[in-house]
Amino acid sequence: MRILFATSEAYPLAKTGGLADVSRALPAALQRLGADIRLIMPAYPRAVGQLREPRVVAKLEPVMGVSDGIVLAGLFPDCDLPVYLVSSASLFGRAGGLYQDDNGQDWPDNAHRFAFLSQVASDIALGHCDLGWQPDVVHANDWHTGLLPLFLAHELGCRPKSVFTTHNMAFQGAFAPHEVPPLPLQSGDDLEFYGRLSYLKAGLAYGDRVTTVSPTYAQEILTPEFGCGLDGVLRARQEVFSGILNGIDEDIWNPVTDPFLAANYRASDMLGKRACKVALQHELNLDADPETPLLGFVSRLTEQKMADTLIEALPFIVGQNAQLVIVGEGDRSIEAKLKDAQTAYPAKISVTIGYDEALAHKLQAGADILLAPARFEPCGLTQLYALRYGTLPVVRRTGGLADTVVDANNQSILDRSASGFVFDDPSADSMVSALTRALALYHDPLHWRRLQLQAMTRSFGWDRSARAYMALYQELLGLPQQDDV
Ligand code: ADP
Ligand code: GLC
Repeated sequence: MRILFATSEAYPLAKTGGLADVSRALPAALQRLGADIRLIMPAYPRAVGQLREPRVVAKLEPVMGVSDGIVLAGLFPDCDLPVYLVSSASLFGRAGGLYQDDNGQDWPDNAHRFAFLSQVASDIALGHCDLGWQPDVVHANDWHTGLLPLFLAHELGCRPKSVFTTHNMAFQGAFAPHEVPPLPLQSGDDLEFYGRLSYLKAGLAYGDRVTTVSPTYAQEILTPEFGCGLDGVLRARQEVFSGILNGIDEDIWNPVTDPFLAANYRASDMLGKRACKVALQHELNLDADPETPLLGFVSRLTEQKMADTLIEALPFIVGQNAQLVIVGEGDRSIEAKLKDAQTAYPAKISVTIGYDEALAHKLQAGADILLAPARFEPCGLTQLYALRYGTLPVVRRTGGLADTVVDANNQSILDRSASGFVFDDPSADSMVSALTRALALYHDPLHWRRLQLQAMTRSFGWDRSARAYMALYQELLGLPQQDDV
């Protein structure tokens, strides 16, 4: 089976969040199942710089006002995944963030940049670029490639089938009509969303199949509370819509081999975790004491992730014998408040503003408890990494967090299913009471050790979910369901 996987980011070529992790790990897992899968994404300078065996495979006809378009082909730097990078100096060749400038402002031409990406992906999928390869299935992800299923659906001839996955309904790619380049196949209603044009809506409305990244979020976004205004569109497509839980890349996120760590460790020998904690404390100028509970928070600093609520909970946290390490970037006012907290309590709080992959790994290994609350969470990957690193997560019961963390209560501790601490209300009080339970158990080493073991031996690899996607593609193509292709 030939699959074109369209995305706006993929680790390590370019990453701002979980989409990048999934866009590498899921294609790699599908490749292991025998699929001939290729990625397509923008040729950001950082991606071009890492591409292995790069070569120009197509010079594009002028389209959407872009006359310097080319397609580069190559391989990921650290695995044999093939990737097409869509290049246009004016749209993707710039310094700065993937979607925003250095001041956190969205690039003013995002509508144009990602319409172009979808257009080129569609041309490749339909065999217009003479690459000698055409997919059976196109898998588009998030609003950036939302126009792709729409372009394919308007093709009159034979065309590949499309799957569209929404990783987050809050990111809609909804633009003022004048920002959107003239689309060859535009039909206003396809995209219209309260006077704007929504690329996410296009993906949801036109994917031959639509998925999201956990079963609970799949239920939630059918309701107005979580659907961000598009729950009606999804309800109309319920028969072709499902939730498939994300996995994690168990090679990249593995405490036994993780090259970022001061020491490696495994469930049966946790000494290295202690060394990671002391190394982290040392690096961040906190007291190097392996007994003090260390709380970690690695996340976009946004309301989705309840970073504002974390600020409300700081008086409680600094009142404990505990340390808190925060790594993140996002909302500028949240960043400033966290920095102030670090200045006020330098012995207890460390705040690193920015994106730091190595520090994210060191935090997962060095912390005892991961704070991963969220108002909504399509899947969430950091709590899964935490489980694997024996760092017990405190999460809110929503979306993928509800699907992956089992609250430590009397029953689940007895039956050995407990793996973290779950709270319900999106409030500081509720988060603090879950954290209080976590800290109490931390001081009970025997129980804590057992919980860590339970967390670390849970399996969240991609195999099962990749098989679910494969079954979806096969069903879509009318192929008999089988394990490999
Ligand atoms: P989301 O995609 O909503 O941000 P996920 O939990 O799915 O949340 O994925 C977040 C990914 O981004 C994880 O790989 C996490 O380690 C990483 N991450 C988030 N913030 C940072 C940061 N400031 N520095 C390094 N990695 C980060
Ligand atoms: C989004 C979601 C997150 C999910 C990730 C990968 O960024 O916010 O919950 O884990 O995509 O699917």
